[in-house]
Amino acid sequence: MPTLAEAKSSNESYTPNYVPVAIFAGGTSGIGQAMAEAFARYTRGRAHIILIGRNADSAGRVISGFPIPEQEDGWRHEFIACDATRMREIRATCAALRARLSHINFLVLSAGFNSFATSKETSEGLDYHLALRYYSRYVYINELLPLLVKAHERGQQTHAMTIMGAGLGVPISTDDIGLDKARAQTIKPLKGVMLSFAAMKGMGYSPGYNDALVAYFACRNPGIAFTHVHPGFVKTSGLHTDAGWLLSPISWLYELVMEICAEYMLQALLDAKRGLFLRSPTANIISTHVFDAPVDFDLGCSTAHKTVRFLA
Ligand SMILES: NC(=O)c1ccc[n+]([C@@H]2O[C@H](COP(=O)([O-])OP(=O)(O)OC[C@H]3O[C@@H](n4cnc5c(N)ncnc54)[C@H](OP(=O)(O)O)[C@@H]3O)[C@@H](O)[C@H]2O)c1
Repeated sequence: MPTLAEAKSSNESYTPNYVPVAIFAGGTSGIGQAMAEAFARYTRGRAHIILIGRNADSAGRVISGFPIPEQEDGWRHEFIACDATRMREIRATCAALRARLSHINFLVLSAGFNSFATSKETSEGLDYHLALRYYSRYVYINELLPLLVKAHERGQQTHAMTIMGAGLGVPISTDDIGLDKARAQTIKPLKGVMLSFAAMKGMGYSPGYNDALVAYFACRNPGIAFTHVHPGFVKTSGLHTDAGWLLSPISWLYELVMEICAEYMLQALLDAKRGLFLRSPTANIISTHVFDAPVDFDLGCSTAHKTVRFLA
């Protein structure tokens, strides 16, 4: 396990001879924000950093804290508004990015929503939890893949990372992969307390879905790195939703402060060159595989992927 000092030293050694292009979808708060800030700090602002989310005010505050390089050599810091529960909106955002960017080096996906009680269907008929935690991430990677491939063709580091719960997935019931049946059920374990099966299943299933997601893309694109990482328990605004009453008794587990988490997440991002990686909160590799050539096989996740494909 790398120590924090080793993670920092590894991040400090990141000195690309080009201006890297990095997208943080979920970079307006929480772990995504902390990673974007660390990335800006280590590159001394000499990067094209794009934050994606809904909160423009928050994005403005984050971006105003980035270092400003003296030289004008292609660096840029910007925000794009996009609701990650709407696949059509993500597709339009990605199409606009494809029209103006030549390539993307890093794509970090961390938009989150925690609730054990709330579950609903999005305007496109998807489960809300899965839309944020899984479908949107598939669409982002799929739609921006041509730009990731271009960075790889330039001989530059190329990496797509999803932050969720690597290796922590629970068994998935394949007859309700989109949680339509689960959404019809609620339980009341205590008077006045409502829990949603779909919310709990959405949160329980999404780590496994994300494991499959990176495996799906990594085996088809051997020159690019794809990572699913678990950040550990980190105190973010995402943990202050209706899950708070459940999580407060274990608040002592919040041992990792945001900045420490960001150092490890960034190490996981900058360290990998190509292949499939599942990583722990301290950037330890839980599982990895480097593919020598593209492999096209069904990993058992194709049904869910197809659901999104049909939403074009
Ligand atoms: N924190 C933890 O302890 C922990 C533990 C295990 C796993 N994780 C996972 O790690 C990831 C990051 O966690 P976090 O705690 O940093 O997340 P978070 O605080 O819940 O996420 C905040 C980010 O999600 C974006 N977001 C939320 N809803 C959105 C929507 N509809 N459209 C677009 N963006 C949206 C927010 O942007 P706007 O507000 O600008 O829309 C913000 O940038 C999540 O996937 C989470 O499930 C976290």
